[in-house]
Amino acid sequence: MLPTPYVKCDYDKVYEPAEDSFLILDCLEKEHDFLKRRFSNRLAVACEIGSGSGIVTTFLMQNKILPQESSIHLAVDINPWALEATLDTAKLNSCENSFLDVIQSDLNSSLRNNQIDVLIFNPPYVPAECVPGVPGSRDETDQWLDLALLGGKDGMAITNILLQQLERILSPDGIAYILFCARNKPEEVVKKFLKTHQWNVKLLEIRKAGWEVLSVYSFTR
Ligand SMILES: C[S@@+](CC[C@H](N)C(=O)[O-])C[C@H]1O[C@@H](n2cnc3c(N)ncnc32)[C@H](O)[C@@H]1O
Repeated sequence: MLPTPYVKCDYDKVYEPAEDSFLILDCLEKEHDFLKRRFSNRLAVACEIGSGSGIVTTFLMQNKILPQESSIHLAVDINPWALEATLDTAKLNSCENSFLDVIQSDLNSSLRNNQIDVLIFNPPYVPAECVPGVPGSRDETDQWLDLALLGGKDGMAITNILLQQLERILSPDGIAYILFCARNKPEEVVKKFLKTHQWNVKLLEIRKAGWEVLSVYSFTR
């Protein structure tokens, strides 16, 4: 069993790792051999959208989920506190020698076309009337935290934007791992995605977490 990174953050400012985060870690552990084979002979670029505390990105680096020493890890979050937390978590787990860059950005807007080999997203998936606006300053910490959770209609407002961008972001043999909750209606989302994309979409993990049912799907061309 691969070790889980040690995380010590201010959870008034960044999302505290929870069942959804741990489901992603379990999924990446199961995918380890597949990813090792897929990217054994070239440098790969991993990008976590919404890195929060940095637990997932650190897990990737700590356990060398991407086989090449010089693989690149990008951690994107809209919340500035999350970027600091991601760097701290990497350091706390002795990953400072890995190639890690953190980027404050709205989803994928800062990513170049077709460069990402492994994309991971544990999105704000809780259904809500709307997605909160971006706070005007770093100090509006409650509002940054709301952005971690509230996903608008069916909890899918943010994930739908990313799904529409997968074609642009992923490298030709890239893979995306995306987490859903049952209220996102993932089977319907996948059906709709496949109407417009000739891709492979696989359910990799499904788990009851309290009253929520969480799942992780992979998306490849
Ligand atoms: C559910 S949390 C997941 C955090 C971490 N990946 C984990 O698994 O513990 C969602 C994260 O997405 C970030 N986020 C929300 N909307 C975003 C956006 N439009 N662009 C980038 N990051 C966003 C939040 O700030 C938050 O850190």
